[in-house]
Amino acid sequence: MSVPVAPANLHDAAVFSTGIPHDVFAEMRANDGLTWSPAFGETAGFWSVTRHHDLVTVSRDTTTYSSGVGHIQIYDIDEDALDARASMIDMDPPVHTRLRRIISSAFTPRHVQGYQPAIRARVSACLDVLESAGGGNWVDVVAKPIPIGVICDLMGVPEEDHDFLIGLTDHLVAGTGSEPLEPTAYGNTTDLRLLPFNSPAAWAMSEYAANLADRRRDEPADDLITKLISAEIDGERLSRDEFANFFRLMIFAGNETTRSSMAHLAMYLHDFPDAFAAVRSDRSLLGAITDEVIRYSSAILYFRRTVTTATTLSGTPLAAGDKVVMWYSAANFDDAEFPNPHEFRVDRPMTSPHVAFGGGGAHFCLGASLARLEIAELITELLDRNVTFASVGKPEFVESNFVNGIEHLDVTL
Ligand code: HEM
Repeated sequence: MSVPVAPANLHDAAVFSTGIPHDVFAEMRANDGLTWSPAFGETAGFWSVTRHHDLVTVSRDTTTYSSGVGHIQIYDIDEDALDARASMIDMDPPVHTRLRRIISSAFTPRHVQGYQPAIRARVSACLDVLESAGGGNWVDVVAKPIPIGVICDLMGVPEEDHDFLIGLTDHLVAGTGSEPLEPTAYGNTTDLRLLPFNSPAAWAMSEYAANLADRRRDEPADDLITKLISAEIDGERLSRDEFANFFRLMIFAGNETTRSSMAHLAMYLHDFPDAFAAVRSDRSLLGAITDEVIRYSSAILYFRRTVTTATTLSGTPLAAGDKVVMWYSAANFDDAEFPNPHEFRVDRPMTSPHVAFGGGGAHFCLGASLARLEIAELITELLDRNVTFASVGKPEFVESNFVNGIEHLDVTL
């Protein structure tokens, strides 16, 4: 059987240097079965899932498509490195379920609604700064500070450390680019091989987390750090490394992702004024536009799974050990689910929701309700203040094939 081969090297961050490579993904979606990417350097070849239906199948079957066997990124790492960096996102049920349960109650839609006043205050403060300057780098002034502020509040990280953590997460993402990182940055002495994203910032974040946990042991607070250090699984507390990996997952996942969607939002506000005008006059469309921003920006480009037992997907036979990469950024533009997918619309029938938060199943984004609320609050405040942009500059994308991030975006009001 001849196998369709990917028309671009999807390992390479350069393919994503101007955003999602929609033409490449359209070609791949049109192939029969899955598309193969041959080995690249030391990275073994992998299968790409680009259609919505297939992606949902993979996401919901953690037995056949494992997060715990192999890495969840395209490149492979050694077993000891996998163990050293593992957090719940790299595990399968039932261990995953036990870890997720420690904090899941803090992220239910009802619970999250309680954070609304604090989120609105953060949004408002950032827009004050932007408005008083008549514009600026939207990413630095608005998209970065809001999500990190919100997730740090929930975790219990003091305000004065937020900028330090922004720097660390930026450095973590740099590990998904093609430039080698300085191994000793932040005073790191751990072998980069053992660190998430091969980044010394991961070490610095672990050290920071451990110190904060020590402080909370002496002075417990109503925050997630206290919840994590007090939780018992099968009668045992999380170890120092387990806690640090959990902390890093939460900071990274709660921050970089929402930031990317908020960064893209500025471009949509400028490029699709009719959609925002419709919401201004009919606020019942707020949920629809929020999800359209999240679909259209597809902040996480992919996650990988590894096949545990021979199977067939979309007619393609898969063997145990095969890598399967779910391109959320491709499935969200599958016209079988989203007619005219490149139109930014507030009237999409969401019968088959987008997969920006994952295709469902055990790992579905824990922070989906929180992210929706943050983005909805930003849209509401922009509409209430009647913010419009006289100009929006050319976006500078983050060099990564994993997050659809924007580094810099100038706006003038
Ligand atoms: C627009 C914003 C966001 C996007 C696009 C996004 C996307 C995703 C995706 C694609 C996954 C993996 C789903 C899967 O494998 O099935 C995920 C998992 C996760 N997300 Fe989000 N996310 C966002 C915001 C957040 C926020 C604000 C938090 C805050 C806590 C968060 C926390 C997590 C966690 C902890 C996981 C791992 C869940 C698990 O393994 O059980 N995310 N997210």
